[in-house]
Amino acid sequence: MRLEGVGENPIERVIARTNVPPWPLLHTQMAYTLARVIMAATQLGVFEALDTHPVSAAQVAERCSTDAHATEKLLFALAAAGYAQASDGGYALTPRSRKWLRRESPYCLADKLLLQFAEWDWLEHSEEYVRSGRPMELHETLAADEWPIYQRGMRAMAPTVAAELARRLPVPKAAHDMLDIGGSHGYYSVVLCRRHDELRAVVLDLPKAVEHAAPLLAAEGMGDRVVHRVGNALTDDLGSEAYDLIITSQLVHHFSEEQNRALTGRIAQALRPGGIYAIIEAFRPTSPKDAGQVGALLEFYFALTSQSGTWTPEEMAAWQRDAGMRPKRPLRFRAAPGVGAQIAAKPS
Ligand SMILES: C[S@@+](CC[C@H](N)C(=O)[O-])C[C@H]1O[C@@H](n2cnc3c(N)ncnc32)[C@H](O)[C@@H]1O
Repeated sequence: MRLEGVGENPIERVIARTNVPPWPLLHTQMAYTLARVIMAATQLGVFEALDTHPVSAAQVAERCSTDAHATEKLLFALAAAGYAQASDGGYALTPRSRKWLRRESPYCLADKLLLQFAEWDWLEHSEEYVRSGRPMELHETLAADEWPIYQRGMRAMAPTVAAELARRLPVPKAAHDMLDIGGSHGYYSVVLCRRHDELRAVVLDLPKAVEHAAPLLAAEGMGDRVVHRVGNALTDDLGSEAYDLIITSQLVHHFSEEQNRALTGRIAQALRPGGIYAIIEAFRPTSPKDAGQVGALLEFYFALTSQSGTWTPEEMAAWQRDAGMRPKRPLRFRAAPGVGAQIAAKPS
């Protein structure tokens, strides 16, 4: 899927297929204003103040301790974007805001949107990065107060694909031990262990990540079936024939080709014969002409923040093959277009 202009009436739908609309304004001013309006509403608690029935802007403002006139402007913009429904002189939640931005929803992305205030600042380094080629090195420069926001943001995104991953991942029949490298909140391990009774998981992550992800994992009530291990994916010994299933999710985009090849080698060593390694990532399109705007934009974003970028399924499969594993065809998530899993099996 890609961000594009959609005509709002039949004539506009024809115009939208041409070069007549001022595309750069839509892709920049409208895109960043839309983004900030939704982020501001999230931070100010507007979606928690709305209800399934219409609430006046003044009431929303009172609940959020905001200015009534400015709140009306914000709600008006949200309504035009499908995040609020204007009716009877007030505003109500829409299916979109209820599913994605209300705290009681299991799919609530509010914590990811709160992380985006930091990401907004990071993107300001774009021009400097392109001029100098020097990236930010996110995990070395993250401020102490950004680590908990980062971990909660990652946890917020996980339910988007976790159920589909658990359903479609070919977990070996007698699997007992799983390693989730760079696993943060451990939610993928939680969902997989809930589906496979015999499975238990170790979630390996950096010290600061584990410090702030520990309460998120504890809230799942998995006890000693899913536990954290403080470590470093780039240097830790992962053991030998110790796991039936190893996953990395949104990790390899932080590492260089060389680092990923070395990591894949240690993963192959750590897997038992017949074990599975799944790399869960936004896939990079082979060429910008191919479908894959999400992967292409994230390629730039991760290059800026982590010096690496997204990878094509073919590149990841090559690391797996060269480490002695048998790559499978990439699994593309229906619930998150552009994101998938590159899976390989260690020969029995
Ligand atoms: C983008 S987050 C993804 C978290 C989680 N796997 C998910 O998909 O929601 C990347 C995670 O990798 C961790 N990480 C980065 N470098 C690492 C390293 N060298 N060793 C272990 N974990 C690392 C970060 O601390 C962070 O928790």
